[in-house]
Amino acid sequence: SPPVKKSAPQSSDPCKNCREVIDKVKERYSQPWKKQEDNYQKFRSQLNGKCNGFDKAIITQANTPVGKELRFNGEKKRILKVTPEIFSIFAKEHPFSNKTLNTCAVVGNGGILTNSSCGNIIDSAQFIIRCNLPPLGNGYEKHVGIKTDLVTANPSILVEKYGALNGRRRPFVEGLRTYGNSLLLLPAFSYGHNTPVSLRAVFTIEDFKSSIRPVFFNPEYLQNLSIFWRSQGLKEARLSTGIIMASLALELCANVNLYGFWPFSNHPHSHHALTNHYYDDRKPKTKFHTMPAEFDFLLQLHSQGVLRLHLGDC
Ligand code: CDP
Repeated sequence: SPPVKKSAPQSSDPCKNCREVIDKVKERYSQPWKKQEDNYQKFRSQLNGKCNGFDKAIITQANTPVGKELRFNGEKKRILKVTPEIFSIFAKEHPFSNKTLNTCAVVGNGGILTNSSCGNIIDSAQFIIRCNLPPLGNGYEKHVGIKTDLVTANPSILVEKYGALNGRRRPFVEGLRTYGNSLLLLPAFSYGHNTPVSLRAVFTIEDFKSSIRPVFFNPEYLQNLSIFWRSQGLKEARLSTGIIMASLALELCANVNLYGFWPFSNHPHSHHALTNHYYDDRKPKTKFHTMPAEFDFLLQLHSQGVLRLHLGDC
């Protein structure tokens, strides 16, 4: 087929950093999407073989006995030997269903979700994963949905939003209400400074009898996942929460749908300017992540029919 002719960028074009990506997306995203079962199975078994997120993504009493040395994935020299006290707050067994889930939605926090009307379709998934305690409700519901089965919390949010849980803890517990009895996934053993604040979160949840269920990322899984993505050609210091959750979803679910993944400043179709998040315009820490490089890989998986990226309005 003839090469796609690229139109010259116009001076009035507000899209500075995403013109090339938008062209690529137009090319790859224009075909109707169809799941390619063989590609999906192949990618899934690679992930499962190298990382085994199904059994290992979350620390459990089964995979992390007393005395085991946890090696922090962000700080290689730091090791924590599991004491009976820490062991007692680990999940008894992995919390995932033994049957492969049918449809999962992984919701990134991108501004592309603003006014997308994707709430209903997101909420119709069997398992819904969200990142970094995003605001739901308050008018966002229509565009991002409200149901949650698993939500991550970066300790930096606990520090910024809830005073690192050193003072009054009720606002934190109230903030968790929208997530019901979902799993709260904390990277407690990625960096040394994550551990005390994550433990305070767990104790607060217990003391206030909140129905959310705190669990910890297994640093060994995060390490293996980062080696896996590096072997695929993704060279970056730290994987973003979104690509971690998309990878886990590929092991847990037959049909993985991604929403809110678009790390560029303009909408792919209408080209209007976007905020970085659907709820604020805080910029990503480019020192650590290169979300556009991750996006390229996700777009490849979309083209291969392994997962489905949703970039349009619903
Ligand atoms: O944890 P992190 O700060 O990386 O993420 P976030 O800003 O809370 O957003 C959650 C995830 O959504 C990110 O990790 C990205 O994978 C994805 N995201 C995106 O693809 N495009 C954006 N504009 C913002 C977030």
